[in-house]
Amino acid sequence: MSHPSTPARILIIFFSLSGQSRGLVSLFAQGVRETGATATSVQLKPLADVPYPFGSIGHTLRRMVITFLRRRVPIENLPSHSFARYDCIVLAGPTWSYNPSGPILYMLDRDGKRIFNRQTVLPLISCRGHWKIHNHFLRKRLHLLRANVLPTIWFTHPVKEPWSTIGVFLRYSGYRPEGMHLLKKRYPRYGHTRSQLLDAREEGIRVGNMVIQAKQAGAPAISCRGDAPHERSSNSSEARPTTAR
Ligand SMILES: Cc1cc2nc3c(=O)[nH]c(=O)nc-3n(C[C@H](O)[C@H](O)[C@H](O)COP(=O)(O)O)c2cc1C
Repeated sequence: MSHPSTPARILIIFFSLSGQSRGLVSLFAQGVRETGATATSVQLKPLADVPYPFGSIGHTLRRMVITFLRRRVPIENLPSHSFARYDCIVLAGPTWSYNPSGPILYMLDRDGKRIFNRQTVLPLISCRGHWKIHNHFLRKRLHLLRANVLPTIWFTHPVKEPWSTIGVFLRYSGYRPEGMHLLKKRYPRYGHTRSQLLDAREEGIRVGNMVIQAKQAGAPAISCRGDAPHERSSNSSEARPTTAR
């Protein structure tokens, strides 16, 4: 933790290809700032352009295979303030074929030790619906980097299967499934809803307050031991964020 007399400081490191994690992070940061804590965002930028959409069904299938194999995507160097001490670091991004995205994997390999060692880290996942393997792998990596890992927050796209998978696949292939005659009833939208964005803001307020309280109490690090998982329903059509360890 930074010195008790300095304001509570939260760093948000994120990657976002189609804008979903960016939207969540932006509202989360707004919530943090409403508590009086500071929120600094760092977006991972691939060295070579990663197109969105991928352009065709063939290109999308290829991406799914290489991301399943955890291919790293090289990124630009991070600003120097990414390596400072924070009261909490939020690590946010999408699921790519059951894994963290390529830019996040690359950053963990290259900068993980310098950024996360003995820091408190809160993973935040944006995905269509399958976050569990991603979450397990990411938390394991962070534990190996000796981070104090808080319960993960995840947001799923609030569309039923198999329409969600079909819709996301078509979207990344360059189509607009929500405008297609046969799909639009079952696939009304791609991505998260406004209500989920507002939930992200609420999460920012919750985390901001938690960090401030821990600082005021002089705790060496935020502890999640003994905390009940901060769980919310994700079955409704307006899915809410949920947390897991
Ligand atoms: C290559 C690729 C693979 C994906 N694989 C999964 C997956 O295994 N499970 C899932 O729930 N979502 C998967 N998705 C969907 C994204 O996680 C989802 O669209 C997310 O909201 C995108 O966030 P972003 O806009 O911040 O990049 C995949 C997306 C891409 C591009």
